Amino acid sequence: VPLHSQLERKLRADIRAGRLLADTRLPASRTLSRELGVARGCVVEAYEQLVAEGFLTARGGSGTRVATIAQPPPPRRDPARATPVAVDLRPGMPSLAHFPRAAWLRATRRVFQRAPDAAFASYDARGAEALREALAGYLNRARGAATEPDSLIVCTGATQGVALLARTLRRGGATRVAVEDPGYPVHRAVIAHAGLEPVPVPVDDQGISATALREQATVDAVVVTPAHQYPTAVGMSPTRRAELVEWAQERETLIVEDDYDGEFRYDRQPLGALQGLAPERVAYLGSVSKVLAPGLRLGWLALPAPLLGPVAEEKALDDLGCEVIAQLVLADLISSAELDRQLRRMRRIYKRRRDVLVDELRSAIPDAAASGLAAGLQALVLLPPDLSERAVVAAAAARGLAVTGLGEYRVEPVRTRPALVIGYANVVEERLVRGVRTLAECVEVVRAQPAGAER
Ligand SMILES: Cc1ncc(COP(=O)(O)O)c(C=O)c1O
Repeated sequence: VPLHSQLERKLRADIRAGRLLADTRLPASRTLSRELGVARGCVVEAYEQLVAEGFLTARGGSGTRVATIAQPPPPRRDPARATPVAVDLRPGMPSLAHFPRAAWLRATRRVFQRAPDAAFASYDARGAEALREALAGYLNRARGAATEPDSLIVCTGATQGVALLARTLRRGGATRVAVEDPGYPVHRAVIAHAGLEPVPVPVDDQGISATALREQATVDAVVVTPAHQYPTAVGMSPTRRAELVEWAQERETLIVEDDYDGEFRYDRQPLGALQGLAPERVAYLGSVSKVLAPGLRLGWLALPAPLLGPVAEEKALDDLGCEVIAQLVLADLISSAELDRQLRRMRRIYKRRRDVLVDELRSAIPDAAASGLAAGLQALVLLPPDLSERAVVAAAAARGLAVTGLGEYRVEPVRTRPALVIGYANVVEERLVRGVRTLAECVEVVRAQPAGAER
């Protein structure tokens, strides 16, 4: 690479990364060439190139300066996050250290050994046939679903699944979609982005309130998390499941089932998907984000027949279909039973982590109570009453402990016992213990604050 190009690259990278700040005056070409031991022409050429690209400005008299336009935005400083995170108990992440690297590699090798060249084209926006076949078998067997390969659409995760459905509903004239409150903010945002109004419906200890849902005169669909409500971790009761299906059938409304972590159940077999009860009323969403890793960006929709064509069209207009090699690898992992093996392994690991969390909470904060422990990758931890959730979260942040208050998931403010949504899956046991001990300190600090200070 010619010297002037090397110099250009270095300066460009420094400007982009903000190491050279806007308006910084660069050394005169003569000075820099002497310092670097290169010909002056080399520096001049580099400067001229960067001026032409807009990274530098050269105004007679004021020398060569870093242009303002090339600067990255200044890093946002969140005061609550000023202390680096030492223990992260926020929910959402599976154990990334347990991604089945070796099994994925073996499956990838098999795919490249066996797949015909034609498999690397993407002919069908609904996804690779091999994956839809493997998924239909897996969902029917492991999740109690009632689906078939042609009812499935592979997407880049539950998030894209919700987006495709929301746009399809909107095109069909829908205006309002009920969502759980508290609930997953990403889904609310995706629904609103598609031009629909997310309508918050409260959640109780059996799942979304069927009574509150009935009070809504017009909603065109409802998005629920029956296996393990996000974020309260409640499993939807059989009665509530039946009520929900009955409501959807009466109103001819769609239930969107987000089965984001349904595979993880620790006390008995996982609860079957709601979709199995009423396949014609339920659009089922699944994802590898909790089972393997969110970075894969792979998920699936199992759809009632009338939605298949319109949703496939939305998917095709989005991206013509998902990346095909990862789809084939996942299909291989499912059909070779490696995915089942991984799930069994992870259930053991998560159960152990959950037990450590519960034991430590019991001894460090005896007046806290954990719930939603039978399933999933996160638990709801009710803090001692009368404390301010926000004050506890802030005290934790100041000590390098990242936690999320239940309030962050609510649309309608409710005065209830303060609570945290604790993700324990991606945290090794020692850190979990450390995290809970730090949390105990925070509870004491907030408790000791005088009344009137935010408690
Ligand atoms: C409630 C809920 N649904 C779905 C997902 C997964 O979304 P995706 O499959 O787009 O990664 C998550 C991940 O955090 C979640 O918490």
